[in-house]
Amino acid sequence: MGYIGEREALPVLISSLKRLEYRGYDSCGLALLEDEIAVFKGRGRIEKLQQNLPPSPARIGIGHTRWATHGKPSKENAHPHLACNGRIAVVHNGVITNFQKLKERLLAEGHTFTSETDTEVIAHVIESYYRGDLLDAVARALKEISGSYAIAVISPGYDGIIVARNEIPLLIGVGEGEFIVASDVAGILEQTRRVIYLEDGDIGSISRGAVRIFNNGLPAERREQQVPWNIEEAQRGGYKHFMLKEIHEQPEMIDEMVKRYISATGVKFEPGLAGGTDFTDILLLACGTSYYAALAGEHILKKLGQIPVHAALSSEFNYSDTILRKTLAIAITQSGETADTIKALREAKKRGCPSLAITNVIGSSITRVADATFYLMAGPEISVAATKSFTAQLIALYLLALSLGKIDPAFQKKLADELRGLPQKVAMVLTEEEKIAKIGRYLAVCDNVFFIGRGLNLAIALEGALKFKEICYIHAEGYPAGELLHGPLALLNPMMPVIAIVAPDGTHDMTLTNIKEIKARGAPVIALAPEDDSEIEKYTDRVIRTPQVNSLFSPVTNTIVLQLLAYYTAQERGSPIDMPRHLAKTVTV
Ligand code: AGP
Repeated sequence: MGYIGEREALPVLISSLKRLEYRGYDSCGLALLEDEIAVFKGRGRIEKLQQNLPPSPARIGIGHTRWATHGKPSKENAHPHLACNGRIAVVHNGVITNFQKLKERLLAEGHTFTSETDTEVIAHVIESYYRGDLLDAVARALKEISGSYAIAVISPGYDGIIVARNEIPLLIGVGEGEFIVASDVAGILEQTRRVIYLEDGDIGSISRGAVRIFNNGLPAERREQQVPWNIEEAQRGGYKHFMLKEIHEQPEMIDEMVKRYISATGVKFEPGLAGGTDFTDILLLACGTSYYAALAGEHILKKLGQIPVHAALSSEFNYSDTILRKTLAIAITQSGETADTIKALREAKKRGCPSLAITNVIGSSITRVADATFYLMAGPEISVAATKSFTAQLIALYLLALSLGKIDPAFQKKLADELRGLPQKVAMVLTEEEKIAKIGRYLAVCDNVFFIGRGLNLAIALEGALKFKEICYIHAEGYPAGELLHGPLALLNPMMPVIAIVAPDGTHDMTLTNIKEIKARGAPVIALAPEDDSEIEKYTDRVIRTPQVNSLFSPVTNTIVLQLLAYYTAQERGSPIDMPRHLAKTVTV
């Protein structure tokens, strides 16, 4: 965060930092530019730091909320970091890869360090070049610094803020007589919706009334844009947690998406595929929850698009030698900033693939890497645990599959009609909230939970397990139901419930067989099954009924059940649901 304007910087920084906390929340700090620089920092959340802050007349300041990479979460390691003379303060997102080498040199030159972070070297390198011109010193310092960064720098010698970006998002909100620097739009929405996105290699000097941006030493034009989100969308709006709000937003979100792309005459989904539709296969690249959308997408696209598809974890793809010929590479990422996914898409492009990004965040880094972008338009997702973005990704993949036009037109129309009815089915799941919450309360005492699924719903079992790990802190494993006999069955006991996704498709009978095998080993079984599955109750301990949908769309309704289940289990366990320990919403490193 950074602020320069006519108002007191402190309250603006505090409220904007609170909105950016989902990006990291193990420690935080601020530097205010008065006659000298005043720094306040501490371990933990902004709210705690705020309690001990004296008022300040400063009109310029920077702030940071940290997700530790180098050095444990502590007051010393919290940003901002100062140069030896205390007159240069830096906040930084990213990783400086050559910090150790730089630190050794600086130590030899007599600099002293107070933290274990890579960031602190930035302040000292700038100091070593400072001859009265902060912009010049930052520019020279960055020539020596390798790695990824978004930085904001202040010094009493300069009435403004210097910012720079390389591979890490950074933007400047343009207000009335003020500028707000932030790592994403959530940090500026309360003040303004006008925004300038910085590009890699940009260095900006933000003074009163003017922003000047340079790239490679030359002035660079960066267009001002309007953020399509408003502050209400980024607020909890009466819900106890963002996660619950975001779960409840799903029927409307799907409805808007479907209406945008499906009309009475058919599917009009044109993601602007570079190279037209002249590709032989598809590679889906993603991490975490987005990867599970990709896994489900692999099934959906193979079935409806009738095309070879491979879903790969971005973090592993970079080590693979997959031969790509006329392959369409699709990166799926809510934030558009996941470092591994950006790197994987770059690699696929290097190997000659046309590329598409499916993302939720306008102006995010992935959109500058991909040849074309499809925006999910799911609205801001603040909860660290992804919910509505996952569902939006699934819908995008259905739309893409249907638009490939490889299936019989009558079948395509039938599916398109059913997609239009999906928001209502999702709303029906939400009416079961209290029943699901009750089962969540029962699960809250468990230390281990298994999730099983087959076919299209295997990805949903994996996603359900991820949610349980992430927000309930329960050891959870998602497993292909057919693989249980090959080892994991040995783990089962009466204290290890198995959540089984029973879909009304070709997997149904085999999943039922697996459920019987599990019951015979004494583990309780909770099944997710459609309303008309009359058999299921005989073999399970509890059943969560899901509305009747075409089995192709059952991943969507099942997902909503598992999101609610994780939410209520986490609530019963007293977890900090929106900001789970050790995590951050966007993994830019
Ligand atoms: C999901 O609940 C997680 N917070 C995480 O797995 C996330 O999906 C992953 O980091 C990928 O993020 P992206 O979609 O922004 O690329």
